[in-house]
Amino acid sequence: ALSKVTFTLNGKRRTLAVEPRTTLVEALRDTLGMTGTKIGCNHGQCGACTVLMDGRRVNSCLILALTTEGAEIVTVEGLADPGGTLHPMQAAFAEKDAFQCGYCTPGQILSAIGCIEEGHAGSAAEIREYMSGNLCRCGAYPNIVAAIEAVRD
Ligand code: FES
Repeated sequence: ALSKVTFTLNGKRRTLAVEPRTTLVEALRDTLGMTGTKIGCNHGQCGACTVLMDGRRVNSCLILALTTEGAEIVTVEGLADPGGTLHPMQAAFAEKDAFQCGYCTPGQILSAIGCIEEGHAGSAAEIREYMSGNLCRCGAYPNIVAAIEAVRD
């Protein structure tokens, strides 16, 4: 049976009908068509599905959609302003070459924003520790840390 859930996605209230077992990443991608959020492992190990929920980064493959009632969700689609100006973290990723294939990048960027907003960007070591749940098969890690340091500074 489907149940209704209402949350705010990138500043807009959305109400959708989901199954009890539907995860947040499935709701975003399959129900809402917001495919910027990626699925890698689908079990909390890779970070490709990272979004912000009430200002904290979460793995959206581990969150049941029905538990997001009333939450504020931010995905990569919500970062640039409507005129197309990139969020500072997106601009920093481009500037510092912080990706190659790009598959992990939406999750990396949301985690990177969480890293600064949650106060874990004090040093390169602290950034690496916070970002350790976001895997990058291309090995862009040094440039990702550089992008976060650039936004922090
Ligand atoms: Fe969610 Fe890998 S897809 S952590």
